[in-house]
Amino acid sequence: MPDTLSRRRFCASASLVLAAPFVWPRAGFAQTRAANPLRIPPLYQGEMRGNARHFDLSIQDGQSEFFDGVQTATRGINGAYLAPVVQWRAGEDVVMNVKNTLDEETTLHWHGLNLPARADGGPHQIIGVGETWSPGFNISDKAATMWFHAHLLGKTADHVWQGIAGMAIIEDDESDALPLPRNYGVDDIPVVLQDRRFDRSGQMPYAPERPDRMIGLTGDVAMVNGTVAAYFEVTTRLVRLRLLNGSNGSIYRLSMGDGRAFQVIASDGGLLGAPVMAPSLTLAPGERAEIVVEMAPDDRAMLVADLSGGMGGMMGGMMGGARRGGRFEFLELRAGAALAASDPVPQRLAMLAPLPAQAGLKQRDFELEMSMGPAVMLFGGGFEINGRAMKMSRINEVVNMGETEIWRITNRSPMAHPFHVHDTQFRILRRNGAAPHPTEAGRKDTVLVQPDDLVELAVRFDRYRDSERPYMYHCHILEHEDQGMMGQFTVV
Ligand code: C2O
Ligand code: CU
Ligand code: CU
Repeated sequence: MPDTLSRRRFCASASLVLAAPFVWPRAGFAQTRAANPLRIPPLYQGEMRGNARHFDLSIQDGQSEFFDGVQTATRGINGAYLAPVVQWRAGEDVVMNVKNTLDEETTLHWHGLNLPARADGGPHQIIGVGETWSPGFNISDKAATMWFHAHLLGKTADHVWQGIAGMAIIEDDESDALPLPRNYGVDDIPVVLQDRRFDRSGQMPYAPERPDRMIGLTGDVAMVNGTVAAYFEVTTRLVRLRLLNGSNGSIYRLSMGDGRAFQVIASDGGLLGAPVMAPSLTLAPGERAEIVVEMAPDDRAMLVADLSGGMGGMMGGMMGGARRGGRFEFLELRAGAALAASDPVPQRLAMLAPLPAQAGLKQRDFELEMSMGPAVMLFGGGFEINGRAMKMSRINEVVNMGETEIWRITNRSPMAHPFHVHDTQFRILRRNGAAPHPTEAGRKDTVLVQPDDLVELAVRFDRYRDSERPYMYHCHILEHEDQGMMGQFTVV
């Protein structure tokens, strides 16, 4: 954390600590409700060198002060925990210089982007100790909230847990022309949602126990952009929250604590066709959404999350700590006495391509499985897609570039899995035969598949062919991914 932030946080929380009772979560660290100003990561626009916009990112070890006076070992990018918010412009060529200053290998994957396989940053683009990896690519996606994170085979969960992840915002002309809140850090707010588990000394080592490996690791301390017990001072009538579920294994059902509805304006891959008024929204690990919340003068509204989905939800009820009444209190929005006016959210947002005609399209089936035999209980594993666990040397699927296919994802396990596909924004055609909910009718790269669900996707991979280097599809519960619920495809 930068110094100024810790100091600000310290002062703000010190005054509140006097007024409010301590709450002792499992880790034993004092937390007061909404005591700390939300950390707004710096917006990083890179710099033009030649014809490309360059970004210099350094993956590093650091110390973070999540709790006053307690230093926690973390990892981050250009900082101690998480990363600056990277801003890209659609149409631009970028070069991402990623230096690995850790004492172990890692990777950095650009989640949600259509880009060449060599630039994807998945398990094959290993960045060795002390090395700098400099993929160049063209930003061809639409305005959206994307993200990036470590993706080393078997170590993704560990590295992301420690903090190697960040948000990226793509801007384009279409979105610029809309009167949406877009003043970064003022009415357009990055909101990286995570939960973490701390030990008695205030450290958060990646140490999943057997049930965590099964369910996905969930903590009992909620944080936004690395801020525990966060509040944000709202100065405008409307505030846009760019939500990213950056947790390892928690499926969040998000709502405002007072039940007020909000407008959902974007899904993973950018703006919806029209805003959707909703009282709640479920985000699984890897998923993003943008919402616009309306505030009145002197208003308070708490963004909360209930754990949902399969066994994670069941376990959620058994855990206490910073989750009050079994719910995470992520972020309190606090409105001032006078709020600047905001333009109303336009009723038309992005132009979405019509869904493809489906007759004659190639279909592929993906069955998500968790085998629970005695060997699995003893040795772990058992997370598979189509009966196979991820293997670096196996290409599971070969797809033709530019050809739309129907991918049918079936969940044959007792818990929910967010299925993610690299290199594309797909569209959900049907969920169990029915049209998707309007909040997920836009561009998506991760879709939550409940037990026994069949979700059908229209998938297409544009622009880049590479018969050698694969992309990944996988469950985005990172413990599942690391244990093999992942496969590889090439685009030819
Ligand atoms: Cu968020 Cu394979 O990635
Ligand atoms: Cu990805
Ligand atoms: Cu899973």
